[in-house]
Amino acid sequence: MSTLIDKVLVSLRWNADHLELLDQRLLPEEILYLNLTQVAEVWEAIRQLKVRGAPAIGIAAAYGVHFAAQRFIESNPSTSIQDVIAEVKQQAEYLATSRPTAVNLFWALDRMKRRTETLCSTNPSELSAGLLVEAQQIQSEDEETNRMIGEHALTLFESGMGVLTHCNAGGLATAKYGTALAPFYLALEKGIDLKVFADETRPILQGARLTAFELQQAGVDVTLICDNMAGMVMAKGWIQAVIVGTDRVAANGDVANKIGTYSVAVLAKAHNIPFYVACPLSTIDLNTPTGEQIPIEERHADEITQGFGKRTAPQGIKVYNPAFDITPHEYVTAIITEKGIVRPSYLENLPKLFN
Ligand code: MRU
Repeated sequence: MSTLIDKVLVSLRWNADHLELLDQRLLPEEILYLNLTQVAEVWEAIRQLKVRGAPAIGIAAAYGVHFAAQRFIESNPSTSIQDVIAEVKQQAEYLATSRPTAVNLFWALDRMKRRTETLCSTNPSELSAGLLVEAQQIQSEDEETNRMIGEHALTLFESGMGVLTHCNAGGLATAKYGTALAPFYLALEKGIDLKVFADETRPILQGARLTAFELQQAGVDVTLICDNMAGMVMAKGWIQAVIVGTDRVAANGDVANKIGTYSVAVLAKAHNIPFYVACPLSTIDLNTPTGEQIPIEERHADEITQGFGKRTAPQGIKVYNPAFDITPHEYVTAIITEKGIVRPSYLENLPKLFN
């Protein structure tokens, strides 16, 4: 049976021998799926934000690891299993250089490397086939995980509530449903009326181009606002909760997410509005003690001075363009995972999720 979420485009799908990847840079105007078969194409797709969102880049990289094995075997038909394993590990290191902040990328690559180790007593083509199955498994698990995140998140919302979100943590950023957007799809299925406010999310407008697009496609009640309107709509009493995704949660509960998230969290606190973060366990990085140690990607100045081809700042202007910011844990009311809702102290309660 087709449900409302099935109206949302999938970010990536496996087809016979290649990865079909939605070029998200072109949305909402153009829907174009690229056919990827090479590791370098996956690296470039991640770096250039053709695929973006923490879980989706992890899934894409996992398929990239399969391509590493498959292409190597094709060009070296009499290769040994040990040589394939060495190649896979080297290409996984290369894929890890595509973007620095979202820990799901490294989580997925580590999982693929571990699977490679367990396939070491097979032959090269069995290893390659096994890596494809593992990548598909990561993708299907993500879908299931997000549905559970959505179920838990929905317990925090009631019909009639206004909920603000920032960036895109939806189906487009994951295998399906999204993390922060999952409860909106489930609410729709269950007839719960939520009014979503989507920040447009400067500088490259994931909120306007992606969140507004996918929620509208599914029939969710969504209103687009500029980032600098969030305080105004909160002051008007239109927002009863904020929910965002994240690229990495540190052990103390500090949260890295799209630039501007911190400002929204501060505004939420000032208006006594709960600020929720939704993510799978694969986004929680207990090896990173606090937000200070999370590497923050800085992107090209053009995104600010001439985003989408129109120059909007003087030539030669100095620009600072961090792609993410850190929201200190004091601002985070709860973290919603597939295993349930975690509240402070995060230092004490996050590790319990992994028991
Ligand atoms: O630069 P992007 O578009 O990859 O940033 C995406 C975000 O910040 C998302 O909120 C985050 O990855 C969570 S996606 C479920």
